[in-house]
Amino acid sequence: MKVLIIGSGGREHAIAWKASQSSLVDKLYCAPGNAGIAQYAECVDIGAMEFEKLATFAKEHEIGLTIVGMDDPLVGGIVDVFEREGLRVFGPRANAAILEGSKAFSKDLMKKYNIPTAAYETFRDPGEALAYLEQAKFPIVLKADGLALGKGVLICSSLEEAREGVNTIMTEKKFGDAGNCLVIEEFMTGREVSVLSFADGKTIRPMTSAQDHKRAGDGDQGLNTGGMGTFSPSPFYTEEIDNYCREHIYQATVDAMAAEGRPFTGIIFFGLMLTEDGPKVLEYNARFGDPEAQVVLPRMENDMIQVMEACIDGRLDDVELQFQENAAVCVVLASDGYPRHYEKGKEIRGLEAFEGKDGYYVFHAGTRKENGKILTNGGRVLGVTAKGPDLKTARANAYDAVEWIDFDNKYFRHDIGKAIEEA
Ligand code: AMP
Ligand code: GLY
Repeated sequence: MKVLIIGSGGREHAIAWKASQSSLVDKLYCAPGNAGIAQYAECVDIGAMEFEKLATFAKEHEIGLTIVGMDDPLVGGIVDVFEREGLRVFGPRANAAILEGSKAFSKDLMKKYNIPTAAYETFRDPGEALAYLEQAKFPIVLKADGLALGKGVLICSSLEEAREGVNTIMTEKKFGDAGNCLVIEEFMTGREVSVLSFADGKTIRPMTSAQDHKRAGDGDQGLNTGGMGTFSPSPFYTEEIDNYCREHIYQATVDAMAAEGRPFTGIIFFGLMLTEDGPKVLEYNARFGDPEAQVVLPRMENDMIQVMEACIDGRLDDVELQFQENAAVCVVLASDGYPRHYEKGKEIRGLEAFEGKDGYYVFHAGTRKENGKILTNGGRVLGVTAKGPDLKTARANAYDAVEWIDFDNKYFRHDIGKAIEEA
């Protein structure tokens, strides 16, 4: 079968690598792809939001399965377009991707179906939001309703900051239409865990847990980013917590979506906070996490394409997911200055060191090829993943491998997975 992957980041590189191992795949394409993905897939120069062009390409090239990696096309309805054209596609339709596309929708869903999450209020009028803040407790969390590249969440420690936040999101519209509606949410404390899962509309199969590091600097200092590194599994995600989440969060979410006439087929990413009152949902995403995929997929034993096919056909209840009894750590190599201002176009050296090394992976996030050289082409450049029998070893291996790579403005966090020392 020919498979088309849509996206161009480290997550799509991990998906392409995993797809390349499948017995069902004869040829891989990726639109638009990147220099790393090109090792497994023929990259096609069509943007992820060009649905009609992508569907035409899929028909002309007899693509048997299209996998959508990114949130924007999912929320924008790419799956609906492909289905209308009679094409097989893995991912939620727009009416289900709204779980990620609208925070107001997902909060209302959780409230209606008693899925544990932070208390909240929703506002369409900045004046009402400001009035509400007058009597609120701080810190408090402001969230732009729509997609904002993971940057539409502001944690405000004072009334003044929160007023400024309302202004930024609702009046100045820093995140565009994503800020037409604002969710103001109770601030929760605890440890964060990401759990990705496959869903077929009725059945849900959670994968192994992972933890992201969202801030740019060591010690969780600095600006929020797309994610600076991950580890898997999370030692804080115990069997007891898992059992609770399966019943009260994972299955409850799939049942709620089905009851709303919005059956969810694809990946549901649960961003969880392990609070003193138990696990609560921070956010839903409708796709693999980036860089969560870079530590979860290398540990997965199943043929990912077979699992995706089972989701599309509604027979996920026949599938048992299996993960290796080991650990993985991913350290993101970024361009110095990310997520603000940074330079691109630096030559990357040392990539060949990963060839033939079992348990080590270098996933490209922002790279391009020019005259036979691989150059940096984004804020997040590469994700260096290593496995090990336990988290400590995986972490040491990942930081060894970080040193194999060299480019001029290379920047990375030194404390990815350090939290495991407290476990
Ligand atoms: P989100 O995009 O909703 O995952 O939010 C980004 C980050 O903001 C999360 O990973 C958390 O670290 C933080 N965050 C979001 N909501 C809350 C909350 N209610 N309480 C505390 N931290 C939060
Ligand atoms: N790593 C967080 C995300 O993919 O949204």
